[in-house]
Amino acid sequence: MNGWTVTQTVFDSARQHHHETIFTIGNGYLATRGTFEEGHPQDRRTTFLHGVFDAAPFVVTELANAPDWLPLEIFFNGARFGMNQGTVREFERALDLQNGVLTRRVMWDSAQGERATIVFERFCSLAAPHLVCLRVSITPQHAADIKLRASINGIALSDGTQGEKLAHWEFLAQGLSRDAWGGEREGNVFLRTRTFHSQVELGAAMRVQTTRGKELTREFWDARNVPTLLLRVNAEAGETVVVEKYVAYFTSRDVEKTRVVDAALNQVNAVRDWDDALAENSAAWEKEWERTDVVIEGDDEAQLALRFNLFQMLIAAPRTDDRVNIGAKTLSGFGYRGHAFWDTEIFMLPLFIYTAPHIAKNLLNYRHRLLSGARAKAKANGYEGAQFPWESADTGEEVTPTWVPHYLDRSKLIRIWTGDIEIHISADIAYAAHQYWVASGDDAWFSEKGAELILDTAKFWAARAEWNETEQRYEYNDVIGPDEYHDHVNNNYYTNRLAQWNVQTALEVLAWLKQHAPHEAEQLLEQLDLSPARLAKWRDVVEKMYLPALPNGLLLQFQDFLERKEVDLASLEPRVISVQALLGIEGANETQLLKQPDVLMLMYLLQNEFSHEQVQLNYDFYTPRTDHTYGSSLGPAIQAIMACQVGKPDDAYEHFMRALRADLYDVRGNADDGIHAASAGGTWQAIVFGFGGLRVTRDGWTLEPRLPKHWKRLAFRFFYRGKPAVVDLDNENAKTQGT
Ligand code: BGC
Repeated sequence: MNGWTVTQTVFDSARQHHHETIFTIGNGYLATRGTFEEGHPQDRRTTFLHGVFDAAPFVVTELANAPDWLPLEIFFNGARFGMNQGTVREFERALDLQNGVLTRRVMWDSAQGERATIVFERFCSLAAPHLVCLRVSITPQHAADIKLRASINGIALSDGTQGEKLAHWEFLAQGLSRDAWGGEREGNVFLRTRTFHSQVELGAAMRVQTTRGKELTREFWDARNVPTLLLRVNAEAGETVVVEKYVAYFTSRDVEKTRVVDAALNQVNAVRDWDDALAENSAAWEKEWERTDVVIEGDDEAQLALRFNLFQMLIAAPRTDDRVNIGAKTLSGFGYRGHAFWDTEIFMLPLFIYTAPHIAKNLLNYRHRLLSGARAKAKANGYEGAQFPWESADTGEEVTPTWVPHYLDRSKLIRIWTGDIEIHISADIAYAAHQYWVASGDDAWFSEKGAELILDTAKFWAARAEWNETEQRYEYNDVIGPDEYHDHVNNNYYTNRLAQWNVQTALEVLAWLKQHAPHEAEQLLEQLDLSPARLAKWRDVVEKMYLPALPNGLLLQFQDFLERKEVDLASLEPRVISVQALLGIEGANETQLLKQPDVLMLMYLLQNEFSHEQVQLNYDFYTPRTDHTYGSSLGPAIQAIMACQVGKPDDAYEHFMRALRADLYDVRGNADDGIHAASAGGTWQAIVFGFGGLRVTRDGWTLEPRLPKHWKRLAFRFFYRGKPAVVDLDNENAKTQGT
């Protein structure tokens, strides 16, 4: 156990989709699922490039599965190597989280009795993000005539919502590259293709070379849309043959569309050799881990699983592009089609705000760029300001499907209401912009962009607020809060309070701007039409917002929540499915059972506002009502933080491990669809804000560590206002540096 390697030693076809998700590798520009180079029946071969969306039925738009760079077939004296052919004698797959290299070692016997050891290694270069590298080392036991087929497969299909296959790419051209004098430039192969609807052009280039062993022949096989190089190599008994394959991608999002192929060819030509490409990649990873790594001593499982979750965040994070976001399933699967949710702002962003502010800024800039989409959505609904879409892709329009096939019976459709009425996301985005500002002290960004996000969402909230004449209060009715077991509810506490926070903060931001950035203040006042009458209305909304609560301090999930049926969760055991799957959508709606604990979530976000007693009261009330095991994967990490706050680090540990294991153990049975990104981001928050007890305000930060008993050490780093801080804790002492 070195704390850095995720290993699989038994191959089981039945679990292949789960393992494909786990062994996803990437570099923030693209990611590729852990399918096998030679292919396997029913594999879900995907490479997703950030921002390359295309129209799709039901879901409006989805990430287009890009041409596949993995194909590498191997034939031994005519027998094709495959995990489902011949006999797999030994198998091991290992993902090295330290540098993102995925290795598979197989000892294999063909049906004819040929034995060979084959080692595949691959990585998506973090140093040169357009480049992906693959190498195979083949050692046959007896002298063998080995043939290899290396391709780029342009017939990349996506899995549709009903299991159908969708094509997104229109073939444009392919061939062997020629140099300026008409000769072949090292015989590299290219493919040019384009998405049907969004018209993104993509150029891919492939360079293949035999670096050990004797290459006898090489042929270009001009199969349409699958340009292929056929190699014949001869290996003596026990001799190792090494073949390397380098592929590069460029799209018209990166360069002029006439240059996509050239740029890709240049990239593969620029590779000196494997060791060099790997060394550059490893050096880039070292820098990432310097900022991001968390050390847990005394708990090997937690250590490795946490690094795995952080790795998933790091391979999904856009480092140079602020036109993209991170989808709820990162770039690792077809789930949610690459769409971004509040998962980014509330669950993933804190990790980046505190460890990689440049990435946080990219993600927030994405929202700022797409304000026009949010304004259009508000307008279409009859409101002013910016109403962000529940699901967002490349244009900022709402891309939540309104109908999807029923999860139990695909011949039926279910109406999805979240795009219409799960409105809290606008406040979540405003909250995140503010949090970035507080932690980074980036006043320039805030005056230029962050303030506008907060002001324009406030404008929406003030317009959306409904005045209840009888009760003399503002309300938000017919909404879905974060807890999606209850839809069409009135006055969800989380939504109302965060909307109120949004408007109140907007007023404070305006005052700050007037003082510190008067020019921007004036511009925004005019551009957003923030007249005195409008601001007076904002103050009224803040003052008279209805926040449903009992006199004893219990915050109500939503108005009338207590009228729902009380159900003892234990009475539903044993179960391996969610409360909603068990009781049905309507059935769950009628109970007090929660998919995720809204109220506790709110208490976490606005943690400086609640007394310890009030947190305890609400914790005790909502914890037994929450479907921790099979409800939302977003819940456990936050529940862990709240358990720490009420002084229960051992309960916290249980929730934390549930979050950590979400994908590694496929806790909810849907890891096939991709990584649970919010859960992964949440695990970092559980470490830092839960066990570490970090609290940050504009005046500084404090720690109140509460480690699980068996942890010997917890160490992490973060940036506060540009300054690095190192936290090193054990169960007795907290040591910090860099304050
Ligand atoms: C959760 C949402 C989440 C979405 C995407 C849903 O199941 O309830 O809170 O935003 O998944 O992860």
